[in-house]
Amino acid sequence: MSKINNKAAMFNIVFMLSLLLIMSMAEGRFLGLVFGRGKTPQCDKVVGVQGGDTCFGIIQNSNSTAATFAAINPNLNCSALFVGQWLCVSGTLN
Ligand SMILES: *[C@@H]1O[C@H](CO)[C@@H](O)[C@H](O)[C@H]1NC(C)=O
Ligand SMILES: *[C@@H]1O[C@H](CO)[C@@H](O)[C@H](O)[C@H]1NC(C)=O
Repeated sequence: MSKINNKAAMFNIVFMLSLLLIMSMAEGRFLGLVFGRGKTPQCDKVVGVQGGDTCFGIIQNSNSTAATFAAINPNLNCSALFVGQWLCVSGTLN
């Protein structure tokens, strides 16, 4: 009787551990997607937004590409730029 209970308890522990493992892996993949597939943008140069600036203009002035710019400014909303906001114009994805 107690042997069966031990087995059941053991199974529960293993089950819980693998569940935790799967959950943390899923979360890692989720975070990786949100933050650019596990790559952390590292910003080398920032510019402050000035009146009339647009993402497009800043991309052109910084010799960046839209794809790079989006990758190094992960949470940027180009429809909602504000004066004094810092944008990354040069950086790398590690
Ligand atoms: C962008 O490239 C042009 C031409 O190569 C250069 O004159 C200019 O200084 C560059 N601008 C920046 C911000 O790197
Ligand atoms: C970006 O900003 C605009 C203007 O405030 C807003 O309407 C839009 O929903 C925002 N988009 C995102 C993805 O947050």
